[in-house]
Amino acid sequence: MLDDATQTYGLYIDGAEVGPSSGQFFPTEDPYTGKVWGQIARGGAEDVAQAVAAAKRALSGEWSKISPSARGKLMRRLADLLIARADRIAEIERRDNGKLAAEVVAQVRYVGDYFHYYAGLADKIESHVIPTDKAGVFAYTKYEPKGVIGIITPWNSPLTLTSWKLAPALAAGCTTVIKPSEFTSASMIEFAALFAEAGFPPGVVNVVTGFGPEVGAPLVEHPDVAHIGFTGGEIAGQKIYELAAKGLKTVTLELGGKSPNIVFDDADLDQAVKGVVSGIFAATGQSCQAGSRLLLQESIHDAFLEKLIAFVSTAKLGDPASLETQIGPVATKPQFDKIMGYIDIAKGEGARCVLGGKARPDLGPQFVEPTIFVDVRNDMRIAQEEVFGPVLSVIKFKDEDEAIAIGNDVAYGLAGAVWTKDLKRAMLVTDKLKAGTVWVNNYRATSFTSPFGGFKRSGIGRESGINAVHDYLETKCVWISSDLEVPNPFIRR
Ligand code: NAI
Ligand code: MG
Repeated sequence: MLDDATQTYGLYIDGAEVGPSSGQFFPTEDPYTGKVWGQIARGGAEDVAQAVAAAKRALSGEWSKISPSARGKLMRRLADLLIARADRIAEIERRDNGKLAAEVVAQVRYVGDYFHYYAGLADKIESHVIPTDKAGVFAYTKYEPKGVIGIITPWNSPLTLTSWKLAPALAAGCTTVIKPSEFTSASMIEFAALFAEAGFPPGVVNVVTGFGPEVGAPLVEHPDVAHIGFTGGEIAGQKIYELAAKGLKTVTLELGGKSPNIVFDDADLDQAVKGVVSGIFAATGQSCQAGSRLLLQESIHDAFLEKLIAFVSTAKLGDPASLETQIGPVATKPQFDKIMGYIDIAKGEGARCVLGGKARPDLGPQFVEPTIFVDVRNDMRIAQEEVFGPVLSVIKFKDEDEAIAIGNDVAYGLAGAVWTKDLKRAMLVTDKLKAGTVWVNNYRATSFTSPFGGFKRSGIGRESGINAVHDYLETKCVWISSDLEVPNPFIRR
């Protein structure tokens, strides 16, 4: 257990915790109590420059001489250390973002699994011999680490979303500077200390905490940073993309969603109810892949809603530390205000609230009841914009074509699901949905083995799986002459 005294967290640069050059710290709150529990270093451009310099030195130092297999060994050691400390690190993360204890412990352990997966990949990045059309040459490709990687992450799943970038970057042999969310920085500082313990050379992993414009922007702009891996909101994503474009850097952007959960009349409705609930109310709806639009076939609309409302009404809201709790608080005050704002917008647009719709100040400063709106038209803002909270919009449809049309009629394309027992129907919808992930008769599964990312405004690129490592590699093609004689360029043949 953490004690009640306020904890102070520095930056993590070149293998050691250091103070910020500003000398300033800012408070971090527990969203359940609203109380300050820690002080976080307020980094700035100067700290970013030091962290990037350390990462650049590490790139050509001891780290570059470690074989890919030995790199994998270090990553496995790190994964085991993390799994052994999962309870403590999860408690810190829970204090910062209010996620359910059971969920965060499982997530932190799973971060260990991520590192094990990419540890195994470190020495399996094989290059190719190219059968060229030129005579007298031997050509092959070689994959080299892209360089210093900037990682910028949000508050909903801090270590998970960091590891989606950090694990493949390390497998590729890159070095990194991480900028966690200003709302949830502490778990990353605790995690960073494990790298030295696992035997990583200093400078391979650096963490600069602070605010987006003060730390994130200088990190993206730094000329020695080669690639940015970002998860977060659309507005920050756009700014980062613009800054990265100025430096002609590559990016991976994982942004928002307004994913459809489509239930047909032949589905197993009891199973679908559970899938819909975990789709929108897990993590208090603060999840990029949330199934925030429920598309119900007309013929089952009323019956399904009745089952859904009965089930959601049993949800226990409360202290995220308690294993009894099923829905916790909203992670940040601005997010709480945003969600309450959208509930008003939905009411103003004529959507009908059939469950919830209110804050619960009796439970804590940032609780929102699980909320369901019916009579939603897909052109309403509540159906088009990402709420990032426990708010479900229910929309009716007649047939497959209409379900697909509504499903795709949003700016986003992160995920979606179809519930049916009809294989043809399932295949039709999975083919036609413009989304990076489509689940059939389940919702929410993600894995280190499987690419994740969005179509349309949901982002750029895919994370996880074997191919993700190539975001962190440059391809070099080497041509070796096997002819003794170089042809005379002045004599045309
Ligand atoms: P955000 O997108 O502003 O923050 C994410 C990260 O980007 C943080 O580390 C932040 O400091 C950094 N950042 C912000 N502005 C930046 C800039 N100009 N340059 C560089 N880095 C910058 O997320 P925020 O404000 O907490 O949430 C806003 C909305 O974003 C939410 O309401 C939700 O709709 C969406 N969101 C989506 C997430 C996802 O998983 N895709 C996660 C969190 C939020
Ligand atoms: Mg906090």
